[in-house]
Amino acid sequence: MKALIAAGGRSTRLRPITHSINKHLIPLAGRPMLEYVIEKLVEADIRDIIINVNPGETGIMHAAFGDGGRWDAAISYVEQQGGAKGIAHAVANAEPYLRGGPFVFFLGDNIMTGSIRKMRERYEAEGFDCMVALSRVEDPSRFGVPEFNPDGSLKRAIEKPASPPSPFAITGIYFFNERYFDAFKTISPSPRGEYEITDMITWYITHGRVGHEEITGWWKDTGTPDALLEGNTFLLSQTRIGEGTVIGEDVTIRDPVVIGTGCHIEQAVVGPHVSIGDNARVRGAAIQRSIVMDGTTLEGGFSVDRSIIGRNARITSRNSVGSGPSKLILGDNAVVEL
Ligand code: G1P
Repeated sequence: MKALIAAGGRSTRLRPITHSINKHLIPLAGRPMLEYVIEKLVEADIRDIIINVNPGETGIMHAAFGDGGRWDAAISYVEQQGGAKGIAHAVANAEPYLRGGPFVFFLGDNIMTGSIRKMRERYEAEGFDCMVALSRVEDPSRFGVPEFNPDGSLKRAIEKPASPPSPFAITGIYFFNERYFDAFKTISPSPRGEYEITDMITWYITHGRVGHEEITGWWKDTGTPDALLEGNTFLLSQTRIGEGTVIGEDVTIRDPVVIGTGCHIEQAVVGPHVSIGDNARVRGAAIQRSIVMDGTTLEGGFSVDRSIIGRNARITSRNSVGSGPSKLILGDNAVVEL
């Protein structure tokens, strides 16, 4: 079985961070988000992986994930043509790569703790045309939502309904067969101008057999800063400090944290739930529940909480900053004097 991972799009809800970094490269617990998705596929023995990327981004994505050899997998990259027309279109765009059998489509910002192995097995053994993974969520109206018939079978899938007909999200993990490509020709863009994956699922419900499985364990679509930080918190389990990192005097580490290589930390409080990239510098500051990317400096008597700070940013303060922690959502190269 092949897999297509969606790693394109504009990720507007994560601006300004995503003005300077593709969302799927944002580190969670010290590793680019997409690595967790690749690992889920490999764990289900799906090793023929295609990554859908924005035009012109093959180079940076290849630099991060290579040809897949690291996972004993084969990764190829396909650039989405014709503009951002929705995730259902990203699948159609990859048709030449996906033809030849059923495939799994995995949205690159979906982070989960469970396995997709059982779903794969059920999809293959029970002869479904399509299979979706559901997760019970507090606010289904932010997602694609399934509506059920009285007998428990699926009736249709609705994208971000104002009044959700069930308490489930249809997560970004889908199994499809080759009927997808003919079906795609029959759907039209939604009012927001996108080809919706939920319209494809409704097509499959009407024309074929669709299975569903509730995801066990934690699942998150990391599309917003808070969800991203929640993902970071969830994935941090053990404190790791990279080679060449100097932990100087008066440093308190509150587990769990991940600090990359070549950093200098002194007179600081780091953690809990902090990921710091490589070659960062923290002096005098306190930082908790945050992501700080490579090459960034935090220097001064201030504290930050629930913050995401891009690469090579510089946050300083001359005097100590009172009245509680600051929340900073900053892209690469930001300069802030508090
Ligand atoms: C997309 C899909 C939605 C699905 C969600 C899962 O929404 O359109 O049906 O529930 O992913 O992550 P988006 O996050 O792109 O708005």
